[in-house]
Amino acid sequence: MTWGRMPSCAPVANRRWPGESGTRPKLATCATMLFSLASAFGQQSSLAPGGTHASQIKSLGVFFFWLLGIIFLIVIAIAVASIFQRGQSTQDEAAQRRLKTAIAGASVLTILILFGLVVVSVGVGKEISAPGGRGNELVVEVTGNQWWWFVRYLNDDPTRIVVTANELHIPVGRPVLIRGLSNDVIHSFWVPGLQGKRDLIPSRVTTQWIETNEPGRYRGQCAEFCGLQHAHMALWTVAEPESQFQQWIGTQLRPGAAPSDDLQQRGQEVFLSHACVLCHSIQGTTANGQVGPDLTHFGSRLSIAAGTLPNNKGNLAGWIADPQNIKPGTRMATVPLDPTDMQPLLEYLESLQ
Ligand code: CUA
Repeated sequence: MTWGRMPSCAPVANRRWPGESGTRPKLATCATMLFSLASAFGQQSSLAPGGTHASQIKSLGVFFFWLLGIIFLIVIAIAVASIFQRGQSTQDEAAQRRLKTAIAGASVLTILILFGLVVVSVGVGKEISAPGGRGNELVVEVTGNQWWWFVRYLNDDPTRIVVTANELHIPVGRPVLIRGLSNDVIHSFWVPGLQGKRDLIPSRVTTQWIETNEPGRYRGQCAEFCGLQHAHMALWTVAEPESQFQQWIGTQLRPGAAPSDDLQQRGQEVFLSHACVLCHSIQGTTANGQVGPDLTHFGSRLSIAAGTLPNNKGNLAGWIADPQNIKPGTRMATVPLDPTDMQPLLEYLESLQ
């Protein structure tokens, strides 16, 4: 197999996300693209709220939609009626008076409705940005980078700080405070199924509360144009029951899994002897780069390249062989590899659960 072919075919052939239902067709047809789009909307939609904040935003949106929709229909009906009444005299005094009263009434009503919408909108805005802490909150630092998310679970005990990338795990029913930062330009943290948008601004900390009431996966997306690959800056939020979440934290606190066979052993040697270590860390090894995502538990993550591709060996091979082909402009370097080193490297990285 020639790895040089991978970038063109692998990303398309393996674009099904873990957990998606349905049989994966062999070729990426228009129909499957539409299917992926539809399922992505289901997992990334403010119309499918997974928590109280998003529910309030949805209710506000639905209220605006119906109220403004009805007003629109009334305006159109009046406009159509006025066309049919053209030519009827408005010269007599009584008709003039009726017209003036109608215009004045409509003006006052418009002002009252707009004012009411502002009050309702500000009220919901205040509610969803109110501190949601009840003393049991989880504090997570999310830092935007071109073009990936650095995620750090803060803890008073420094040995219990968890670091990961492009994926957020949260316990169901517990408030989570997102502390937003940026390392370069302005990004915006937005998980539509859980909350509204919050900008991540260099040298400033912004905060946002999220809380979910049902387990599930919620796709998030950078919502502020931040450069060429802004559209490929996504992250997954995995909401799970508290016990499962604690189990996940426990796993994340462990160093990277040791190679369990010769192939993985060779893969680790390849990783540690190439430029990969200049940017990436794997706890428990000598790899301590701080520029790119920490890979200690890479194999357990849902996606590669910040939500660009589902995490599997085929996509990973394409990504390593030619990152610029998949994400032009990415800072992920193309590391020259001997073709025989690719398979061991894939086996090793995917074994990092
Ligand atoms: Cu980061 Cu757009």
